[in-house]
Amino acid sequence: MNKVLDKNEIEMLVRRYLKETGVSLAKRAAKREYIVAANWKMNMTEKETKKFLKELKETDIADNIRVMIFPPYPYLYIFKEMLRYEKIAYGAQDVAKEEQGAYTGEVSAAMLGDMGCPLTLVGHSERRSYYGDTSEIVAKKAKAALEHQISPMICIGETLEEREGHRYQEVLKEQLDAVYAGLGSRISGCLIAYEPVWAIGTGVIPTLEQISETHKYIYQVLRSYGVAGEEIRILYGGSVNAGNVKEIGSVRHVDGFLIGGASLKAESFKHIIRLASEV
Ligand code: PGA
Repeated sequence: MNKVLDKNEIEMLVRRYLKETGVSLAKRAAKREYIVAANWKMNMTEKETKKFLKELKETDIADNIRVMIFPPYPYLYIFKEMLRYEKIAYGAQDVAKEEQGAYTGEVSAAMLGDMGCPLTLVGHSERRSYYGDTSEIVAKKAKAALEHQISPMICIGETLEEREGHRYQEVLKEQLDAVYAGLGSRISGCLIAYEPVWAIGTGVIPTLEQISETHKYIYQVLRSYGVAGEEIRILYGGSVNAGNVKEIGSVRHVDGFLIGGASLKAESFKHIIRLASEV
């Protein structure tokens, strides 16, 4: 038989509940957290990189912002040297799917891990379209990264033709399914960047409704793999700049931004970081 609790017992239970859940409640009440990530692609010089980092280090970065920068390989060591103990993380733009051996021009996850590199992009649309990275290859690269404690940021996105042909959900699912097939539950250790190919470097961005609907869809696909909601981080990328970052950031399931062109000047990137903290 159920025991009827008296007033004191109820109070005690409520106090215990609040104490036990206090941390997560406080966390939930805190400001939404955003990742502001820079994809430098094949840009910048050594001198520009050092100047950029010096400026960025002098900036106040709000507690709800995580900054990530993906420079070209030769500059990773500058980040390693200049960013000791800083709250700015860095990563490679790509990684080999093979462990080691006769693969001229490739850089392995073991090498990146060796130098303490914590992140890598995989499957950026430029890699997929210019260098033949299929979804299966992307999955192998992500797997290689995870094996060396490097968190992959997996880029997915549809072309304009696929968007207009209403096939974008199918395409995104195929891209995610391939990663899930290769990683299984370890997919929860990946960040996802949704970058519609038609929005990259074009100045054209999807409507907020399209971003909202697509991020929700990606979230649901990840949930269907058993990834816990709080582990899911979906960034939006494609023509993000200071003029649109706040409205894109206000969309549900947008957990950050992957920025190309507008991340190449410290002033513009810092401005975006500041705006993202105000969303
Ligand atoms: P963009 O590039 O911001 O210049 O459109 C984004 C990306 O390719 O990651």
